[in-house]
Amino acid sequence: MTLTSSSDSVATGEKLLDDPRLNKGTAFTSEERERYGLQGLLPHAVESLNRQAERVMGHLEQKPSDLERYIYLIGLLDRNETLFYRVVMSDPARFLPIVYDPTVGEACLKFGHIYRRTRGMYVSHDMKGRVAEVLSNWPGRDVRFICVSTGGRILGLGDLGTNGMGIPIGKLQLYTACAAVPPDCCLPILLDIGTSNSALRADPMYLGLRRAPPPTEELDSFVDEFVQAVQEVFPGCCIHFEDWKGTDAIRLLAKYADKVLCYNDDIQGTASITLAGLTTALQIKGDRLVDQRILFFGAGSAGIGIGNLISVAMQSKGLSKDDADGRISLFDVDGLIEPSRKDLSASQEVYAHKAEPATDLVKAIEALKPTILIGVSTVGGTFTKRVVEAMCKLNERPVIFALSNPTEKAECTAEQAYIWSKGRTLFAAGVQFPDVMVDGKTYHPGQANNFYIFPAIGLATYAAKPTRITDECFIVAAEACADQVSSDLRDKGMLFPSQKNILETEVATATRVAEYMFDHGLATAERPREIRTWIEGMLYKPQY
Ligand code: NAI
Repeated sequence: MTLTSSSDSVATGEKLLDDPRLNKGTAFTSEERERYGLQGLLPHAVESLNRQAERVMGHLEQKPSDLERYIYLIGLLDRNETLFYRVVMSDPARFLPIVYDPTVGEACLKFGHIYRRTRGMYVSHDMKGRVAEVLSNWPGRDVRFICVSTGGRILGLGDLGTNGMGIPIGKLQLYTACAAVPPDCCLPILLDIGTSNSALRADPMYLGLRRAPPPTEELDSFVDEFVQAVQEVFPGCCIHFEDWKGTDAIRLLAKYADKVLCYNDDIQGTASITLAGLTTALQIKGDRLVDQRILFFGAGSAGIGIGNLISVAMQSKGLSKDDADGRISLFDVDGLIEPSRKDLSASQEVYAHKAEPATDLVKAIEALKPTILIGVSTVGGTFTKRVVEAMCKLNERPVIFALSNPTEKAECTAEQAYIWSKGRTLFAAGVQFPDVMVDGKTYHPGQANNFYIFPAIGLATYAAKPTRITDECFIVAAEACADQVSSDLRDKGMLFPSQKNILETEVATATRVAEYMFDHGLATAERPREIRTWIEGMLYKPQY
């Protein structure tokens, strides 16, 4: 590590200890202490990174809750980035629920109250007209990823405005923690457009604009200025949209997907991990994707996004668009989506196929005979015993995904799905349910967690420098993810790779995605002889 600060001067003394990217704390050697004016500013002992990590683990054990662990770890990141990533990357499966979902949800709810120090940028609607100038204030120039949210729909918690900043910060940490993307090329941004959450606006600790979000046209014009400013200030940077209000998310992705380097994880990442789970399930059943009939329970941004990607995947396997769309049906709060409905959005109309109106899910299942049922409704307990049994009556091995989260919003639990189907269901959820025992056999329910996908997309993008990230990149990522589920795991009902070797999984997936980017003229980097070795050479290593 060169001890040069972002302003390119050699940092010394307290300034060096205050720079989280350069600080090594007690690991500064005697020679470095002498050279950089650190003598007397640190205790005598010179420690290894491992010894420092051991101390951090001890501190974490003393903390009474995951929220306290989160606050401690973010504090550590503010002091010593290398040590933070050494700890988090030592056991991602253990730390992801702390630095990200579900703890980050709680952290967002209390963001103004637990706020310590800024990380990333806050670009508010007030700055309209000078967004490029504001972005230029960021000290780093080689920004390759911006994760940007308005806070408009944070996890299942609604509009949290500026409190949503915990999400871009956490998402970008996962690029590094899961896929070893170098952290200094990542910039979290909260686009502060105000919040519709009046309780937040009344909270004296709230840190954002205290006003309602602007009308759509005004919002879009502000977002347009932001997107153009990113092209100007950080050319080649990928914009990752995250946790925007559903309608804004769909509209803006459609507007920018083929114009700039960007993607939306809520839409495309979710769709990709769901497709990965379906691919594994179909490999277990020995069935083809193009022969499935899929019913979505919930027709919001997640349902539409997954449906669209499945349709593209079916088309890539030979179906026409009409045939592929015809295999996908939606059911929402008002019942089955069919042509007599007058309340449909353009993206829902694509899946409004001729059928008898139905407001009872079981009736819809009996009429449509789906092989796959996917819950993205935000309403817990809606996949009742009747629903699971109706799927079992039609299918020897029904595929049932209950993706709504948090836990209490899951359409059914893993235990219910396995018990009601007598172990026949191929099941996945949005949350991690504990193992279930049915008739002496243990089932390990899979978690359709986007973290198998977006860090790998990030790593492939970091390496291959594509001009666009297309839907096909997400299909390739899904297939690569499914191909890494060992037969051992499949036997136990797992539809996703183990979380233990997450870096290995992400590198393998990123390699396939980068290969696709090279093969299809998306990449601008020079094609290496061996893509995997080339990518491995770029991985961030948390060491001094
Ligand atoms: P949304 O609010 O845009 O859509 C919800 C949809 O469910 C709407 O179409 C609504 O009409 C329908 N719905 C509501 N109540 C219903 C009921 N009683 N019966 C039938 N349909 C009903 O929400 P979005 O963004 O589509 O997310 C849906 C869920 O998916 C959320 O709980 C979210 O946590 C989950 N999700 C899971 C992911 C994962 O597992 N990787 C990723 C993204 C979302």
